[in-house]
Amino acid sequence: MSERGRFISLEGGEGVGKSTQVKALADALRQRGLDVLVTREPGGSEGAERIRELLLTGSQERWGARAEALLFAAARADHVEKAIEPALKSGKWVISDRFVDSSLAYQGGAGGLGIEAVRAINAFGIDENFPDCTLILTLEEGGERARARDLNGSDRIGGRSDDYHRKVEAAFHIIAAEDPDRVKLVDASGAADAVTLRILEAIKELLQ
Ligand code: TYD
Repeated sequence: MSERGRFISLEGGEGVGKSTQVKALADALRQRGLDVLVTREPGGSEGAERIRELLLTGSQERWGARAEALLFAAARADHVEKAIEPALKSGKWVISDRFVDSSLAYQGGAGGLGIEAVRAINAFGIDENFPDCTLILTLEEGGERARARDLNGSDRIGGRSDDYHRKVEAAFHIIAAEDPDRVKLVDASGAADAVTLRILEAIKELLQ
């Protein structure tokens, strides 16, 4: 039986360059000879991609805060069961572009449900498969939203108010402070290569 792989999630508000860093981190791990699965949320499995459509399209009123949080949690449970857990069991390293901390920050912190309530509804679906390390990419206020307006302005969640997105950012800082062993803040300013080096530094204990 192969040794269980490691699970890393990348998080952050809109427009922090997360996707670029997910690819760069996967390349860096593959160069070290590791077998890597890159995945994303909401999505990452057939069922979860279907739920993604329901979550990111349509009017704001399509889902209330609780239904929205439960749909993210349901998508995540399927993603874990069908993609993440099998990969970890087979010894792969998993890098997920967003995971549970997005729900804690968006639905919990900004959506008004509270971080603890959202953690509780997600625990059932995640079971033992919590990330070994979570990296939250941060940019100083303003820069992030300016970039995001071009990128994500039109989806159901990316298009929410600046006030909502400020609360997301604040919640990410709270999450990092509450769980410093698992969650690290990474400065996402400057050249992409420099950010990748900061990420590799933040996960160096996993790589030993
Ligand atoms: P996506 O297009 O994947 O955006 P990004 O490039 O910012 O990752 O859209 C995902 C959106 O869903 C994004 O606005 C964050 C939001 N989201 C939540 O609100 N809760 C969650 O649990 C997850 C995973 C994402």
